[in-house]
Amino acid sequence: MSDAMIRLEHVSKHFPGAEAPAVGDLGFEVPRGSIVTLVGPSGCGKTTTLKMINRIIEPTSGTIWVDGVEATATEPYELRRSIGYVIQQIGLFPHRTISQNIGTVPELLGWEDRRIEERINELIDLVGLDRELLARYPSELSGGQQQRVGVARALAADPPVLLMDEPFGAVDPIVRSRLQEELLILQDKVQKTIVFVTHDIDEAIRLGDQICILNVGGVLEQIGPPEEVLSAPVNAFVDDFIGGERGLKRLGLLPVGGADLEKGPMVGQTASCDEARVAMERYDTSWVGVLDGERLVGWVSEQDLEGRTSLAGLEVRPIERSVAPSDSLRSALDLVVRSHERVAIVIDDGRYLGTLDLESIAREITE
Ligand SMILES: Nc1ncnc2c1ncn2[C@@H]1O[C@H](COP(=O)(O)OP(=O)(O)OP(=O)(O)O)[C@@H](O)[C@H]1O
Ligand SMILES: [Mg+2]
Repeated sequence: MSDAMIRLEHVSKHFPGAEAPAVGDLGFEVPRGSIVTLVGPSGCGKTTTLKMINRIIEPTSGTIWVDGVEATATEPYELRRSIGYVIQQIGLFPHRTISQNIGTVPELLGWEDRRIEERINELIDLVGLDRELLARYPSELSGGQQQRVGVARALAADPPVLLMDEPFGAVDPIVRSRLQEELLILQDKVQKTIVFVTHDIDEAIRLGDQICILNVGGVLEQIGPPEEVLSAPVNAFVDDFIGGERGLKRLGLLPVGGADLEKGPMVGQTASCDEARVAMERYDTSWVGVLDGERLVGWVSEQDLEGRTSLAGLEVRPIERSVAPSDSLRSALDLVVRSHERVAIVIDDGRYLGTLDLESIAREITE
């Protein structure tokens, strides 16, 4: 048996009086400790699916397993103890302080006051908020801060499973991007099993270990790692949903560290000008990098060499921008198109690793 923390089998939901089912014959798995993003157009059944997992909504048919037990055979209150839920539109209680909001579930579970307080402090730190905010009310926080509180509240009783319904929907793109990054860092620490709903395909790609693309009526069109869905959409719906800039999106998923780097035109600090010219010729550039051991100290242009025989004593030009192995190929490409030399220099903690250009970046996504 696979190590699925959540498994849906032939799950459907037909709301009374509705013509068509909101979710029809849906099946997928969420491996333990991973993030599956559920993405699809408005009304396609994403929220309904989440609510069936924690039994706020009962499925019309089918089976849902959470941590090896059938959800429908577990008391809802038991079930929700192991499932944190971040509801759509944040949903903080307006008349409870931030502290009380975060402590909601531990309070319901009857924890001692001291333990609740410790947990609240721990969580507010974990989501990167100032403890000063604890005494405030939700309306006294920014949108981004409220979203973080929503996440802290869902994590309060340390449930192994988190259901997040468009948790970052109501903030501007910059805050949203920061919250996404923080969630990934947080997930590295807490290793929850997360179902994350969004209708933003870029968010789904960035956060999901797998993305699950739903169509209207809760119909599963494709599930798989983002790279797979982007490189091989199974049908026109998925293709259309992924939208434009597919190449850029794929580059955004691939780290510079995994790419084949060029050695680049590099010489030592005391190289002769002839050696420098040979290096330039070999890479067809009008510049050459100057290395001191493994450290790239700068670069010189063809003109800088005029009237000299060696590089010794020549002042080098600084390397203004570079990328690290953990950066994406998309940021490397950005550097390439913004640089006069059409190249991205790769540096790992001061150590020169190589270069990337348009050609070598493109090669990484063409089979
Ligand atoms: N309680 C309900 N009674 C009847 N129909 C419902 C109920 N809740 C949801 N629906 C219907 O089920 C379908 C799926 O709704 P759901 O909220 O799951 O969509 P969603 O994918 O979360 O959409 P959005 O992206 O807008 O949040 C919709 O057509 C909706 O109108
Ligand atoms: Mg919804």
